[in-house]
Amino acid sequence: MKKKHFEISPSILSADFANLQKEVEAVTQAGADYLHVDVMDGHFVPNLTIGAPVVAALKRVSKIPLDCHLMITNPEKYISDFAQAGAEIITVHYELSQDSSEQNAKTLASLIKAHGCRAGLSIKPKTPAQEIFHLLGLFDLILVMSVEPGFSGQKFIPECALKLGELKREIDRQGLSCLLEIDGGINEETAKACGDADILVAGHMVFRSPSYTEAIQKLKAAKLTS
Ligand code: DX5
Ligand code: ZN
Repeated sequence: MKKKHFEISPSILSADFANLQKEVEAVTQAGADYLHVDVMDGHFVPNLTIGAPVVAALKRVSKIPLDCHLMITNPEKYISDFAQAGAEIITVHYELSQDSSEQNAKTLASLIKAHGCRAGLSIKPKTPAQEIFHLLGLFDLILVMSVEPGFSGQKFIPECALKLGELKREIDRQGLSCLLEIDGGINEETAKACGDADILVAGHMVFRSPSYTEAIQKLKAAKLTS
């Protein structure tokens, strides 16, 4: 049965990197369900962030599951590192290779699962939801990007939220139990357009708020008015 509230995955990209342990404890205390970890390689996206050693450090202080979003080329080289570091969900991008995206997605899903993690597939704003309908059965989670991946604090692209409904209908039609997550520009207003999502990622909305508890509660409750 679908939950009445969204689950929330605050993105540590917007946290205070000099105080990561404090930040993780604070969002956990505030009701976060997952911790979203944005891994960028300066190649698949024009920004560099963190790697597996930081994920391992986060794992030591986190009581909630780590939701690792890999915005990197050749993720197959690093999946074992992230799994060993303690990632619970490992999400890769569909757009990694133009010509062999299907084979690529299949190989990556098996590799992630073989390491004991839940497998996620993410699509960028310009990728139509229909392109991944045939891959839904391979993944535990689909991450719909509602900004171009690369930076936190960008403006939500409303058209992207329409993909949630398309994916939800197709997931139900195929009788699957894949979760839907949306990422980018989420706040209490934009969340209202995301009623078909199970999990909301939020960077700025949570970490730039004076009260993490209030921010997370507002986001969770936005499902009721969506
Ligand atoms: C963007 C990242 C997002 C981002 C979210 O490439 O995948 O997770 O950090 O940040 P906000 O919620 O501030 O858009
Ligand atoms: Zn992300």
